[in-house]
Amino acid sequence: MQTEKEIAELEARFAFGKNWQRFINLLDDDRIASAEGSLRNMLEVSDLKGKRFLDVGSGSGLFSLVARNLGASVHSFDYDSASMECAQELKRRYWILDDNWRIQKGDVLDNSYLESLGVFDLVYSWGVLHHTGNMWQALNNVGLLVSKNGQLFIAIYNDQRWLSEYWKKIKRLYNKGFAGQIVVVLTHAPYFLFRQSVRRLFLKTKRRPRGMDPWRDILDWLGGYPFEVARPEAILAFFRARGFVLEKMRTVDGRHGCNEFLFRKAGNIRVY
Ligand SMILES: C[S@@+](CC[C@H](N)C(=O)[O-])C[C@H]1O[C@@H](n2cnc3c(N)ncnc32)[C@H](O)[C@@H]1O
Repeated sequence: MQTEKEIAELEARFAFGKNWQRFINLLDDDRIASAEGSLRNMLEVSDLKGKRFLDVGSGSGLFSLVARNLGASVHSFDYDSASMECAQELKRRYWILDDNWRIQKGDVLDNSYLESLGVFDLVYSWGVLHHTGNMWQALNNVGLLVSKNGQLFIAIYNDQRWLSEYWKKIKRLYNKGFAGQIVVVLTHAPYFLFRQSVRRLFLKTKRRPRGMDPWRDILDWLGGYPFEVARPEAILAFFRARGFVLEKMRTVDGRHGCNEFLFRKAGNIRVY
């Protein structure tokens, strides 16, 4: 049973959807191409024809759009109504009247909702499950949505021990109200902006690899709460016990950010 303090903390959620609404105003063909490249590269495929793709916590809807463009039939859902509306807006722009892209408001912790969905060849949940308030339950739940021999692509914040605890406090402060936001942004955003400028200058990287926007990403990082983290080996052990085999992994090399995992469901799930 959750304490009053825990409940109050969970209610202090970051408004992801509002951030995504601003992002989709910036969406252009270049960003869509970057997002598509990143997905094809991780999956090592040229298209997703004939695949059932589930986007859990679809955010802006960009990766649902990309999956649909690559030929998959897509189901997107997000907990945040404004995020869901972003996906609907992208569907209106690019796939209006299409029956193979469904969008709903849904919660990855809501088992009866998940049961209504069935199973998918590819379950995608990038940067979502650590923001649910119950990451291990959410991880378990996405595993149940993968068909036999299907794939699971997840990205989960790296555990940096005391540093992750520090970020948790910062994110909590950000979500306490306007004053908290100002303090957090003024004390932390300049560091990230500086890092980005240096990277742009020396590495000549113009675009973020997943088609994202630097400023929206900074706000997502500073405010993204609830916030949990996991070490890569904990994620591997968790899914191995559930009959998954790791196909590919990309870590952030001990830094902050998301480790990416691509699993394949090899057998029946053994642990519930
Ligand atoms: C950082 S964004 C990632 C969005 C997208 N997957 C991407 O890669 O750009 C996290 C998203 O997870 C959603 N989310 C948080 N908790 C959720 C839950 N319990 N069920 C479904 N979505 C959730 C948020 O509303 C937000 O849109």
